[in-house]
Amino acid sequence: MYMSRTSTKCLRFGCVISLSFSASFGWTGCLVDGADVAGETVQALNPTDSNNHQYADTTGTSSTFSTAGVIVQTGPFFQVLGSNGRMCFTCHQIDQGWSITPAGVQARFDASSGTDPIFRTNDGTNSPNADVSTLEARRAAYSMLLSKGVIRIGLPIPANAEFGLQTVSDPYEFASAAQLSLFRRPLPTTNLRFLNTVMWDGRENTASTVDANLLHQANSATVGHAASAAAITADQARGIVDFEMGNTTSQHKDVDSKDLAASGSNGGAETPSVMLSTQLTYLGINDVLLGDYKTGNAFDPHVFSMYDIWATSLTGTGDKETARRAMLRGQNVFNSKTFTISGVSGINDEAAFGSPATLVATCTTCHDTPNAGNHSVPAPLNIGIADGSRRTADMPLYTLVNLTTRATVQTTDPGRALVTGKWKDIGRFKGPILRGLAARAPYFHNGSAATLDAAVAFYESRFGIVFTAQERSDLLMFLRSL
Ligand code: HEC
Ligand code: HEC
Repeated sequence: MYMSRTSTKCLRFGCVISLSFSASFGWTGCLVDGADVAGETVQALNPTDSNNHQYADTTGTSSTFSTAGVIVQTGPFFQVLGSNGRMCFTCHQIDQGWSITPAGVQARFDASSGTDPIFRTNDGTNSPNADVSTLEARRAAYSMLLSKGVIRIGLPIPANAEFGLQTVSDPYEFASAAQLSLFRRPLPTTNLRFLNTVMWDGRENTASTVDANLLHQANSATVGHAASAAAITADQARGIVDFEMGNTTSQHKDVDSKDLAASGSNGGAETPSVMLSTQLTYLGINDVLLGDYKTGNAFDPHVFSMYDIWATSLTGTGDKETARRAMLRGQNVFNSKTFTISGVSGINDEAAFGSPATLVATCTTCHDTPNAGNHSVPAPLNIGIADGSRRTADMPLYTLVNLTTRATVQTTDPGRALVTGKWKDIGRFKGPILRGLAARAPYFHNGSAATLDAAVAFYESRFGIVFTAQERSDLLMFLRSL
């Protein structure tokens, strides 16, 4: 399978970026230093892609570093193991932060008239019963995949759940208690060294190690997404997991800051000072509640530190130094700007946290794994993304009823509760790894934030955070540099 992308060559002293790029992302700058930010036709399936090969994204380039030395694109991750033409790579693309973007999906739709293997009715269409007989029918049938890059995960209300499904409002007329339609973003299959919970709802956490859970997940994905009648072999699963675990991905160059590993920083996937690929990590590192159980140290909100050195190493006042200083300030906003969280199920109602009605927090209270940003313990939280109040017309809406109290709640995705059957788990999802963000918009489990700006706007409205204009733009500079 080949993907191509063409846009205008970025020249050293002037830059014409394709109109849709600059219009939708306000990109007026130009990357220098030979980044293949535009111009080349990229063949996404590249048998031996070199480490740190740069792929264009909305604000620069991202790259992947593999401990194998090259990104070998021939193993089982890149093979059709099921019956519908799909491979893991179909939904986890290297140039889209190992997820998929609406732009990437739309390009495949246009190139194949909606027949590329990603366009399959088992989980690509809004409903498995959708009409896909004509081009226009396919455009409508795959509208969620095309607009938000979301896949339809079908899960039932578990037996013995503490709740039942009272009503369903599914615009695609399919969902029922036997199979709710949950529109979710493919999580990146990179930086998995930092994981402690597999899938948005942790449903692949069936064994005690992440390795075992990933092996199990590789089989589930083959049987599910790739519609395989048979389980994959142990060797295939091993090959997939070894491949995934060897990869580290982050933003590499920024349109304004240029090289993110410059001036001694630890930005980028792999730098001379090797930060991300060798960053120490383990389950429970820097835990908010108990501190770090290995070191005994209290929680340190200074979770991201890769740009710390720029406080002293930057000389000059050129454009790129100015942009780098903004990224450093944004890192500090992420680490230290305080606000109050309340009503977060999984924290404010959690006995282990002392059930605090309110908690003074930073972004790093939940994004606490050093330089990766996921939650360092499996702690599914409901920050409100799936709340009925935030439902958009393209999403199904479920009214769940508590079988004991008869209380009801409306949600677009019960999240963790469909795994445990517990009422308190409704709407809870994991805090994901935050690296490589710029390459893989939109954000949150349902792709409801089209841009990083929209993700920050969510936090402002949900937690009443008041950023100064400078703090806000610095924070956005930082997030796009991850
Ligand atoms: C049709 C698209 C599709 C295909 C094909 C696919 N995935 Fe995924 N993948 C997803 C989606 C969607 C999620 C998130 C689902 C959820 O959390 O409920 C996901 C999640 C994952 C995760 C979890 C990462 C994390 O942070 O928890 C891993 C690992 C993964 N996929 C690996 C694979 C592998 C290995 C294959 C091939 C055997 C594969 N995927 C094939 C769509 C796909
Ligand atoms: C109370 C815990 C908590 C706090 C505080 C928090 N987050 Fe999150 N964050 C989460 C959870 C949980 C998710 C996943 C939610 C979902 O998709 O349902 C998430 C997701 C995200 C994502 C989307 C990542 C992706 O892959 O889609 C971004 C970006 C993000 N957070 C940035 C921030 C920023 C910036 C702040 C501070 C302003 C912040 N977070 C504060 C818990 C938190």
